[in-house]
Amino acid sequence: MIVLKSPRELKLMREAGRIVAITLAALAERIKPGISTAQLEGWAVEIIRKHKAIPSFKGYRGYPGAICVCVNREVVHGIPRKGRILREGDIVSIDVGVIYRGYHGDAAITVGVGEISDEARWLIEVTKGALKAGIAAARAGNRLGDVSWAIQSYAESRGYNVVREYTGHGIGRQMHEEPQVPNFGQPHKGVVLKPGMTFALEPMVTKGSGEVKVLKDGWTVVTKDGALAAHFEHTVAVTDGEAEILTKL
Ligand code: MF3
Ligand code: CO
Repeated sequence: MIVLKSPRELKLMREAGRIVAITLAALAERIKPGISTAQLEGWAVEIIRKHKAIPSFKGYRGYPGAICVCVNREVVHGIPRKGRILREGDIVSIDVGVIYRGYHGDAAITVGVGEISDEARWLIEVTKGALKAGIAAARAGNRLGDVSWAIQSYAESRGYNVVREYTGHGIGRQMHEEPQVPNFGQPHKGVVLKPGMTFALEPMVTKGSGEVKVLKDGWTVVTKDGALAAHFEHTVAVTDGEAEILTKL
């Protein structure tokens, strides 16, 4: 069942989303060569707590981190560690989720460390564009497949692939609610979108095949072919008009 949110609930989700956005913006500003992914986590926890929210990932199905940080070929669910030092030219995706007064916000960005290659920059731009295309398709009266197809076709028409094993999701009182929102699909298929539905849309994109595997830590998802991956995510609400981005400043 897809839970529709009332205006009161959307207000709380907007506040949760804002805390996520503030956290991501602060982390993006602090990214530079020489810092560790554990430092990013430490800053994130500090900022989230200061806003009276809780990092939602910690302990989720046993996940050991408070946020996810992925470098280069890592796609999602990278666990922050002291020994993981960022280097000039790396690309880093940061995924942050919080609970605020019972409601979730979830978003991710990918940023470069210092100077990055053109190839890395294009990948980041295409992934960001794919998310934007998905959000533009998330309109009342459209179907879920229209959102999935918008994301897939944006990436594929530019010569990239989406990662198919992981999906976006409904979000609200739970981090993961129905429905799953795949980053590929067929237009005009799936449930009809209604105002009050809230989704976390999160394309993961690579120039490689898009096939992934999980490392021995049981969490870190990497591209099988070693190609760079990028990940952008926003929590959005379907309205009478354009979808509202809840994870914004
Ligand atoms: N944005 C990811 C998701 O929606 C982050 C989850 S990390 C986890 O699934 F550790 F909490 F699973
Ligand atoms: Co998510």
